[in-house]
Amino acid sequence: MTHRVAVLPGDGIGPEVTAAAVRVLHAALPACTVTEAPVGATAIASHGKPLPDETLHAARTSDAILFGAVGGPGFDDVPPAQRPESALLALRKTFGLYANVRPARAFAGLEHRSPLRPELVTGMDCVIVRELTGGLYFGPKTIERDDLGVHATETLTYHDFEIERIARFAFDLARTRRKHVTSVDKSNVLVSSQLWRRIVNEVARDYPDVTVVHMLVDNAAMQLVRDPRAFDVLVTENMFGDILSDEAAMITGTIGTAPSASVGAGPNERGFGLYEPISGTAPDIAGRGIANPAAAILSAALLARFSLGEDDAAARIERAVAETLAAGPRTADLDDTAPASTEAFTTAVIGRLGAAVVSEAALRMGV
Ligand code: IPM
Ligand code: MG
Repeated sequence: MTHRVAVLPGDGIGPEVTAAAVRVLHAALPACTVTEAPVGATAIASHGKPLPDETLHAARTSDAILFGAVGGPGFDDVPPAQRPESALLALRKTFGLYANVRPARAFAGLEHRSPLRPELVTGMDCVIVRELTGGLYFGPKTIERDDLGVHATETLTYHDFEIERIARFAFDLARTRRKHVTSVDKSNVLVSSQLWRRIVNEVARDYPDVTVVHMLVDNAAMQLVRDPRAFDVLVTENMFGDILSDEAAMITGTIGTAPSASVGAGPNERGFGLYEPISGTAPDIAGRGIANPAAAILSAALLARFSLGEDDAAARIERAVAETLAAGPRTADLDDTAPASTEAFTTAVIGRLGAAVVSEAALRMGV
């Protein structure tokens, strides 16, 4: 069966790492058609807006989106709706991608790269389930002048059904893993968190085989660095999840290996999704061919599993990446002495797939 994937490389290291992921995806799944479309600052430059109609159309007519990164210099004073990042937020909202799955796994052989002692990190394997279409990101915002000066307001808003569906997603996912959910909130201060905790407890009753603990977000940030292996599935609201997922990724040794899946169906269902490295644009290294493409390649594996139903291809890609990270070559974020290029790492991953490499040209023609 032919699969259709919309590739939105975007800005910064986005184009380099998505090109690497597309190479691997095609090697593992030759029956995959790729449509590339502009997004973010790149799209503002070429089309005058961060999410052009043709990009939305490419997404709508595909099984999944492989996304790079968005953002760039020069937008500091631009209203949020016109910034490059607004494209990503609009895609998440438009396609109802409420569940953001962010695995944080310490790969064998990389323990010594963690800022924590290796013995604290060895075997770390948690997943952050971040609510992605609510909270502060999407609540009403204003900026206005009043008697006291300029006044800016964001609104952290959640409806009970939004909490319930993300909680169910987390519990369903936990059932496929170590059956432990940590729900992170700030219920000692925020009324939205009190509602969050109540709904999570209601959902938990349907999952007697899964243990649940509630943790305040400041404590969760601390426990993650104290004992990252204690976590299995973490579920939390949009902004807490944004912050904790960067922290968890860094604990594994680098943010360059952290993929993510944003989906609108359950964890065991197949459906449309957006897949992206969590690292962002990394402007300091963009355009030099040295970025770690592992996160983008692993995002492509998640795409193959969740949106294409290609579990074998996903597992092959994940195994090839884990083997390459263990044996080398490794990119500069993981190797100080003889770092490999993005391309060399990607070629090594493809070599470990044991599949024929399809040329980029053939790929774009949908061969
Ligand atoms: C992420 C990113 C985005 C977010 C930005 C680019 C809007 O940091 O995916 O974590 O905050 O969600
Ligand atoms: Mg982030």
